[in-house]
Amino acid sequence: MIENCTLTKIYSFSAAHRLHNDKFTDEMNKEIFGKCNNPNGHGHDYYLELTVSGEVSSDTGMIINLEDLDVVVHKVIDELDHKRLDVEIEYFTKIRASGENIAKYLWDKLEGLIPSPAYLYHVRLWETSENFFDYRGGQ
Ligand code: NI
Repeated sequence: MIENCTLTKIYSFSAAHRLHNDKFTDEMNKEIFGKCNNPNGHGHDYYLELTVSGEVSSDTGMIINLEDLDVVVHKVIDELDHKRLDVEIEYFTKIRASGENIAKYLWDKLEGLIPSPAYLYHVRLWETSENFFDYRGGQ
């Protein structure tokens, strides 16, 4: 039996957001969020690297069937795809749609959906080609 094996699959979705805090003055919002405070929002092509772990089945030689994984991941990311996150997604009307918070959102949504015995191990969300956010919940 192979232990400590992981599988990572990469997904992408496109979405727009605006980083803004009503508690701050316009000046402060501009200073803190910079270009990301643009009133009409701006877009990103997000890349999600999703890593699952679990026991490798002796019957299949796999941790998880990739098609089964695709079904649950698309259930979550298709809701975000081509949306203005801070306007159209209720969660992000209350919590700023920063890369950090989107990574946590994806973890929280996906954690309970991965078909057992596989389990969610790590989430990495690329916001641009130059920055990504890592999240692992339940530690
Ligand atoms: Ni942005």
